[in-house]
Amino acid sequence: MQPVLEDDALLFNLGDFIPDDPTEKPAEYSDLEKLRLDLEDVDINAQANDQALAGDRRYFDSYKAAGIHREMIEDRVRTQSYREFIESFADLFKDKTVLDVGCGTGILSLFCARAGAKKVYAVDASPIAVTAEKIIALNNYSGTVEVIQGRVEEDSTRKRIDVSSVDIIISEWMGYGLLFEGMLDSVIKARDLYLKPGGRVFPNYCTLRIAPIANRDWAAEQRGEKFWTDVEGFNFSPMVQLASANHDTEIAVLDVPQEVLAGQSSTFKVLDIEKVTDLEFVGNFELKIADCPTLDSLDAFVIHFDTFFTASTEVCYTT
Ligand SMILES: C[S@@+](CC[C@H](N)C(=O)[O-])C[C@H]1O[C@@H](n2cnc3c(N)ncnc32)[C@H](O)[C@@H]1O
Repeated sequence: MQPVLEDDALLFNLGDFIPDDPTEKPAEYSDLEKLRLDLEDVDINAQANDQALAGDRRYFDSYKAAGIHREMIEDRVRTQSYREFIESFADLFKDKTVLDVGCGTGILSLFCARAGAKKVYAVDASPIAVTAEKIIALNNYSGTVEVIQGRVEEDSTRKRIDVSSVDIIISEWMGYGLLFEGMLDSVIKARDLYLKPGGRVFPNYCTLRIAPIANRDWAAEQRGEKFWTDVEGFNFSPMVQLASANHDTEIAVLDVPQEVLAGQSSTFKVLDIEKVTDLEFVGNFELKIADCPTLDSLDAFVIHFDTFFTASTEVCYTT
C-alpha cells in the first residue's frame, strides 16, 4: 500500500485493526472508514479550535492599546451613566461583592469601590488587565479591587471567584447593534456561575429598536456609490459591491440624521439581562411609514438600542 498523504494518521492507527492473534478476523473496511471519518472530525475540530483561539487573541489584543479605552471613557453618555447610577445608588453597592466583567482600565470597578463595595473582582482577558492593576494600585484600591486577567468564564478565573458569591455584576458589554460584539454571552455565563440567588446585574434592561430610512442619495453616499464612480477620473464602481459584500456578517456603524428617517422607530426586542438565556431570537415589529407623497422606496433600516439601569421601578438612566 502506497501512502497517499504524508503522515496519514489513518496508517498510524492501522495497528488497531490488525489482530495480534492471527486466527482472529481482521477489521472490516467499514470500521476503517469509520476511523478515517472520526480522525477527519478530530482534525476539523482542532482546526476550528485553533481558529477560535486566534480570533479570541485578536479580539482581546484589540483592547490592549490606550486609544480604544480613551475613546470609551471619553464617551460621556456611556461613562457618566455608569458613574451616576453607581453613585446615586451607593447604598446598593455598600459592603457588597461586585464582579466587573471586562474591566478594561478598571474604571467601573473604581466607581464601585469608591461607592463602598467591600470587594470588587475586575476581570479582563485582554493584556489591558496588567495596566488596570497598576491603575487600581495607584489609586489605593488594591485592598478592595482584585484584578484577574483571563476570560470570565474560564477555569482559571473560576478558581479565584467562588460560585454564587457575587452580589452585583456590572459590565459594559454593549457592542454595535447591541449584540454584535457577542460579549453578552460571557456576562450571562458569569451571571449563572457567580451571582448569588437574588443578586443583580447592571445594566439590567436593553431595548432594540428599528427604524426605516428613505433617502436614496443618503443611502448611495453611505455605500460609496459616488466616491467609487469617479476615482481620479477612473470608474471604480465594482468596489461598491465589494464594500457591501459582507453586509450579512458585518454591520455598518453610521450617524443617521433625523431627516432620512421615514417613520418612528419600533421596539422589536426587550432583553432582561438578569433573566435572558437565549440570544438567538426573532423579533416582530410593525413600522408606520410617514405619510409622504414623494416616498417611492425604502432604502435601509437602522437598528439602535437603549440601555437601562433600573434599581427600583421609578429610576432609569439610558445610554
Ligand atoms: C467595551 S470594553 C469595556 C471596558 C471597561 N469596562 C470600560 O467601561 O471602559 C469590554 C472589555 O471586556 C473585555 N472582555 C470581553 N469579553 C470578555 C470575557 N469573556 N472575559 C473577560 N474579559 C472580556 C474586553 O477585553 C474589553 O476590555
